[in-house]
Amino acid sequence: MKKIVVFTLLFLNLYSQDIVSKNKRCFLCHGKEDYKIIENGKVKSLYVSSAEYYQSVHKDMLCTNCHYDVSTIPHLRKPKKIHCLQCHYAGNVVGAPVKEMPEKYKESVHGRAKEKGKKAPDCIDCHTTHYIRYHSDTLSTIHKRNIPLTCGKCHMKIVEDYSSSIHGEALKKGILETAVCSDCHQEHDILPPEDPRSTLNPKNVIHTCERCHADVTIMKKYGVPVKQVEAFKESFHGVALEYGVVRAANCVSCHGFHDILPSSDPRSPIHPKNLAKTCGKCHPGASENVAKGKYHIIAEEKEAGIVYYVYNFFKWFTLLVILGLVIHIILDLTGRAMKKVKKKAE
Ligand code: HEC
Ligand code: HEC
Ligand code: HEC
Ligand code: HEC
Ligand code: HEC
Ligand code: HEC
Ligand code: HEC
Ligand code: HEC
Ligand code: HEC
Repeated sequence: MKKIVVFTLLFLNLYSQDIVSKNKRCFLCHGKEDYKIIENGKVKSLYVSSAEYYQSVHKDMLCTNCHYDVSTIPHLRKPKKIHCLQCHYAGNVVGAPVKEMPEKYKESVHGRAKEKGKKAPDCIDCHTTHYIRYHSDTLSTIHKRNIPLTCGKCHMKIVEDYSSSIHGEALKKGILETAVCSDCHQEHDILPPEDPRSTLNPKNVIHTCERCHADVTIMKKYGVPVKQVEAFKESFHGVALEYGVVRAANCVSCHGFHDILPSSDPRSPIHPKNLAKTCGKCHPGASENVAKGKYHIIAEEKEAGIVYYVYNFFKWFTLLVILGLVIHIILDLTGRAMKKVKKKAE
């Protein structure tokens, strides 16, 4: 056993030394910081940092595992362009992980825009080319804390709104249970919200917020009430939405999305001062009165005010009526039975 372990360690050591020494041939030129060419009138850097490469997820790979057509040094022809999906597809035999379903990228809003020649991101725009790190690594471009920065390279205005929202503020405090871009939009299969398959289509929004907002363990920690989703589903809007009335309000119609703020914040659309305007978007003429009650109410709970008492009145009233009926039936039946017994006796 010990021999096997020693042998394996030795083999792994030799193997990784082999990788380092083989890759050295490439770093001879590509390891120089100012190694560059002019391509289509623009300067293109050909530099790859070896220090960063050996901290990346592909550190145990040869340069030529990906750049398979570089067989001689110096390579006389320009190597072919390669793509991450050459390996990261379901069923690949090289062991490239596909748990996050990167193939979905092809059907995404970005994949389709890229195909049309727009400045939309390809894998390397979000992940970098040679310095890819695991999402759990705080230095990774896809570490939860860095995702808004990664998307924000292009969606600048949105990141600005997001940063001052309750979710953005929480992220600044290091609360990783908060929502970042990919929690609401996904990462690889990002679709326009109009698409019925989008996680943010009016039909699906509730489930996207629900994932965190109906989770007692998360919400308790931050003192955020947790019954909102349940209450919403029982509300006029929730029921209407369930029946396919997409005009009905969903979570983001009242709360906004990138700039979500608590009701205590005067900038929030659900601050009592702004409620008439918020409901007024769809209920023209909504008055200040809408701010008087609570919106998210569960009839079974005292906080629901008058609704609670009406609910309870009818609950007990119905129970009493049913009880009365049952007693009536029992008395009636026993009466009849007694009569029968009497008749037989006669
Ligand atoms: C003697 C210097 C030298 C060495 C050693 C070298 N390269 Fe290159 N490499 C170049 C030059 C010069 C170019 C630009 C070629 C061009 O654009 O026609 C280049 C271009 C490339 C490109 C394509 C860049 C692009 O524009 O898309 C890749 C990929 C590449 N090299 C990989 C490698 C790999 C892998 C190795 C090691 C097996 C290696 N190179 C070793 C000089 C070198
Ligand atoms: C996991 C796959 C992978 C490995 C391993 C890899 N590359 Fe690349 N490399 C790419 C991709 C993807 C591109 C961008 C598309 C293209 O140019 O083909 C690229 C581009 C390049 C370029 C062009 C300049 C640039 O940054 O876009 C050079 C030079 C290069 N690689 C050199 C190397 C060297 C040297 C190594 C080894 C230290 C290496 N590559 C290892 C995937 C890889
Ligand atoms: C030649 C095949 C190949 C190519 C091309 C390739 N990868 Fe990989 N990739 C792998 C393999 C194999 C692993 C597993 C490495 C390991 O576990 O040591 C991996 C691991 C990863 C991981 C870590 C994922 C995890 O769940 O552990 C990420 C992220 C990743 N690759 C992204 C990319 C990106 C982005 C590109 C394009 C720039 C790319 N890969 C190109 C083969 C490839
Ligand atoms: C718009 C940005 C974006 C694009 C484009 C993108 N990704 Fe990702 N990718 C992400 C984010 C964000 C995550 C992290 C998800 C998470 O935290 O679980 C991720 C996760 C991954 C992982 C798992 C990483 C890990 O550490 O577990 C792999 C593998 C991966 N992507 C490969 C790819 C490939 C291959 C492509 C191109 C087809 C691609 N990605 C395109 C943003 C992107
Ligand atoms: C390299 C720039 C770039 C990066 C990085 C980027 N995007 Fe995009 N994104 C675009 C472009 C360009 C479009 C527009 C595509 C089109 O015209 O159809 C787009 C479209 C979108 C759309 C659809 C918009 C609509 O109106 O339907 C969403 C949602 C989106 N991106 C989210 C994200 C998220 C989330 C991230 C980070 C995980 C991200 N993007 C990273 C460039 C980028
Ligand atoms: C709390 C959930 C949530 C978070 C977090 C979030 N979004 Fe959105 N996003 C939405 C919703 C909901 C919509 C639009 C719904 C609609 O138009 O019906 C949207 C729309 C978009 C659009 C297209 C419409 C527009 O306003 O241009 C883009 C692009 C976008 N988001 C990018 C991002 C980026 C980048 C981030 C991270 C900084 C992010 N989103 C964070 C929920 C979210
Ligand atoms: C990935 C988890 C996650 C998702 C998805 C999410 N949230 Fe949140 N949200 C949180 C956390 C955590 C907080 C508490 C942050 C804090 O207090 O620092 C929060 C806070 C809030 C608050 C403020 C509550 C208060 O009393 O301070 C509102 C309102 C809110 N979210 C609405 C939404 C809506 C609407 C959606 C869907 C479009 C959504 N959230 C999606 C995790 C999430
Ligand atoms: C018709 C408008 C409307 C809809 C739809 C709506 N909310 Fe609310 N929400 C409010 C108002 C108004 C408040 C302020 C407290 C109250 O009145 O209950 C609130 C409060 C909250 C709070 C507590 C935060 C605070 O600061 O008071 C959370 C969390 C929340 N809503 C989440 C959601 C989620 C998740 C959904 C979707 C399932 C949703 N809301 C749908 C109007 C709405
Ligand atoms: C996005 C549009 C939208 C917003 C914003 C909105 N509602 Fe509604 N609401 C509707 C629709 C559509 C219906 C009708 C549902 C149906 O068909 O039963 C409705 C129905 C109602 C009903 C049931 C009685 C009726 O008039 O049909 C009440 C009460 C109500 N809304 C209150 C509110 C309050 C209070 C707010 C603000 C906190 C609000 N709504 C915000 C779209 C909206």
